[in-house]
Amino acid sequence: MKIAIYPGSFDPVTLGHLDIIERASALFDKLIVVVMHNVAKSPMFTVEERMEFLRRTTSRLSNVEIDAFGGLLAGYAAQRGACTIVKGLRAMSDFEYEFQMALTNRKLNPNVDTIFLMTSAEYMYLSSSMVKDIALHGGKVADFVPPEIEEEIFHRMRKDG
Ligand code: COA
Repeated sequence: MKIAIYPGSFDPVTLGHLDIIERASALFDKLIVVVMHNVAKSPMFTVEERMEFLRRTTSRLSNVEIDAFGGLLAGYAAQRGACTIVKGLRAMSDFEYEFQMALTNRKLNPNVDTIFLMTSAEYMYLSSSMVKDIALHGGKVADFVPPEIEEEIFHRMRKDG
């Protein structure tokens, strides 16, 4: 069974992430979407909230599992028997950082390769931070996040802001 992992902060999941999830789930027998910790970020939503948003938006994809992990991605891949890490590439500016992560992950776990899916053009400049910023300032996020979570993101950000 070919198992792939799609890691990220997903704070929160956006339509750009969902585009990658849908396309990657068609390429592998199983796709594990895993909420992880990026040391450079302080998340707005809890791990449980981010997992719940992902579960809600991917429920129709039967080979997609949602998980969370607090350690190294390379170790998680070994633990789950995954052969591939999937990442989405947006603008050229993503490339150097992604290249560095892919090489590091392969050094840590030689059995895992990273593949990149080109983000669909309409999501090229989308990011979770942008979604949070729009919602915080009272803007509608319907064009950026899946409809199942739009209202909740909007109200949650307004409440916190
Ligand atoms: N559509 C829309 N937005 C996208 C996107 C897409 N297809 N792909 C990425 N993005 C956005 C994300 O929303 C995120 O936005 P933000 O910066 O506003 O939060 C940004 O691009 C960066 O995404 P990504 O590169 O996936 O980083 P991340 O912070 O989501 O995830 C981890 C990075 C968690 C995978 C990484 O830190 C990790 O592996 N941590 C575990 C510890 C570890 O193993 N460290 C060693 C790594 S070599």
